[in-house]
Parts: sequence; C-alpha cells; structure tokens
Amino acid sequence: MRLLCIFGPNLNLLGERERDIYGTLSFERLLELLKDVARKQGIELEVFQSNHEGAIIDAIHEARGKYDGIIINPGAYAHYSIALRDALKAVGIPTIEVHMSNVYAREEFRHHSVTAPVCWGQITGLGYLGYVLAIEAFVLREKESNV
Ligand code: DQA
Repeated sequence: MRLLCIFGPNLNLLGERERDIYGTLSFERLLELLKDVARKQGIELEVFQSNHEGAIIDAIHEARGKYDGIIINPGAYAHYSIALRDALKAVGIPTIEVHMSNVYAREEFRHHSVTAPVCWGQITGLGYLGYVLAIEAFVLREKESNV
C-alpha cells in the first residue's frame, strides 16, 4: 500500500511552534517516526510539506493513480480552502484529515473544517499520534472489507 502524507502551512515548524499546543517533537523527528511506523507495516509512505495552497493542490492532483490513501493536515486551510476541498473531492482518494490539537477546544474559527466532509474521516487532538493512527486506520481498512 502506498500512502501520501501531506503537511500544510506552518507544520514545518513543529517542535518550535506553540509547543504547548503542538508538542515538542520536531518535524524532522516526526517524519522519521512515521517512516518507521510505515516501514514496519510494509507501507510505502511519501511525505509532502508546503506552505502554499496551490502546491498542496498540485500534490493532491499528482497523487492520482499513485497512492491508495492520503493523510493530510491542511493546517489553517482546513477552515477555509474550498479549492483544497475541491481537489480532494476531485481525485477521490480515501483521505484522513489530521489535526494535532483538539480544534473543537480552541477558537471558534477552528471548529469548522471545509475539507473534512470530503474525507473518509478526521482525527483531531491526539498530537503526533494522529498521524500514526491514520496509518493504522489505512492498514485496518485494507484488512476489514466492510469498513
Ligand atoms: C492544526 C489546527 C489548525 O487550526 C491550525 O491552523 C494549524 C494546525 C492542528 O494540527 O491542530 O496550523 O491543523
């Protein structure tokens, strides 16, 4: 199975940025950890990070025919990017949206996601474990035919 993990704006600053909210694990360490989890599950995991909406949309388009699933933390784009939502809907690749913080316990403008309704599911508030659980969910999805 091949998965693409997309990190949106400001997530490259993990470990430095608002550590009380997003934790102390650096972006580089997180990528190592996820690669490790994927390798142990026999999954090919590619990672893409961009601070630019169009670049993320291009990466979603290019995922067609290459990946069985997308894990995406759209960052703030989740709350307002209709273009990102349309891209996810257009390619139709099963997608899990991850937010590291519990967006429902934060400012009201974070309570709404325009991208989540076109995703298979959403994981929010479990820190970096959200990405690990998203990988596990795709593994289980493949095994459990009725998911
Ligand atoms: C985030 C939550 C968003 O509201 C915020 O803009 C982010 C990170 C999260 O992982 O909790 O950049 O997606």
